[in-house]
Amino acid sequence: MLGLVVNSQVEMHAKWGGVVPEAAARTHVESILPCLEEALGQAQLSLNHVAAIGVTNRPGLIGALSVGVTAAKALAQLKRIPLIGVHHLEGHLLSPYLSAEPGLPHLSLIVSGGHTELVHVQSSGEVRIVAETVDDAAGEAFDKSARLLGLGYPGGRALSDLAEGGNPRRYALPRSLPRDAEKFSFSGLKTAVRRLIEVEGDRLDRRDAAASIQAAVVDALVQKAILVAESLDSGLWGITLCGGVAANRLLRSELERECLRRGWGFATPDPVYCTDNAAMIGLAASVRLAAGQWDSCSELDVFSNASLPSTHHIQG
Ligand code: KG4
Ligand code: ZN
Repeated sequence: MLGLVVNSQVEMHAKWGGVVPEAAARTHVESILPCLEEALGQAQLSLNHVAAIGVTNRPGLIGALSVGVTAAKALAQLKRIPLIGVHHLEGHLLSPYLSAEPGLPHLSLIVSGGHTELVHVQSSGEVRIVAETVDDAAGEAFDKSARLLGLGYPGGRALSDLAEGGNPRRYALPRSLPRDAEKFSFSGLKTAVRRLIEVEGDRLDRRDAAASIQAAVVDALVQKAILVAESLDSGLWGITLCGGVAANRLLRSELERECLRRGWGFATPDPVYCTDNAAMIGLAASVRLAAGQWDSCSELDVFSNASLPSTHHIQG
């Protein structure tokens, strides 16, 4: 990695208790060029050394995506270099390759603030979503529970810090495993957490509550990932774990343990590459560039919704 700068808007989101799209876009405008300069400074390079520009163009908040895509187009045109629009989840899907060497075929568990998906990546590079959430994403389950515990927004990290040393068996919470192999569901957990806090009132041990919530989310994710992996063809290399929630220590260790028990491989990025970052987008862009795929500056657009590309062209 030559240079990586993350300008987190978490403090601003915490102040407003969530993401305010207008404020997020404005902050992108203010920070995009300073971030670019800092990253080039870290890499001790100038724009003249840059061979191509990758940028997230989908899915997401249109205002924020437009700032990045407009800046990327200007730079690509100025320097006459290729421009590559990247799907946000494709970045997460490839992020384990920044820290490890997963084999193919594998099953990837993508867990973020907006997504909970199990993706089967075949040896051909073909990508197929085999399970997704029917309601809240895993990150939302953490964030909404954290908010109920008064931990601010987004509270996934704060909840997992509070859970350290807490008793995960103190409060019984649902594991929300819908019988359908291809569905996750976390809304029942959210309701149960709200009820627990109401019923326990001042008696609630917040550390034990955080540990019990974390265990419920992690159990549901690990059990479903293993169930789906076992149902896939033999010859599966193993499981990769990515997305912001993949920074969770318990999830990393539990999923790794279950994979190793079955003789499967396990790969997850260093935590810095789990939460949203440009390194994973750069990697996805370079893989597309190597496959001869890039976008036209006049045609690249932004999309609030977009399905995951069906191939990713990385070699196992
Ligand atoms: O991928 P990401 O950075 O942004 C989205 O694409 O949504 O994921 C952010 C999510 C948030 O819900 C955040 O609370 C959660 O990842 N998260 C964690 C941890 N670190 C970040 N959840 C649990 N434990 C953590 N250590
Ligand atoms: Zn993300």
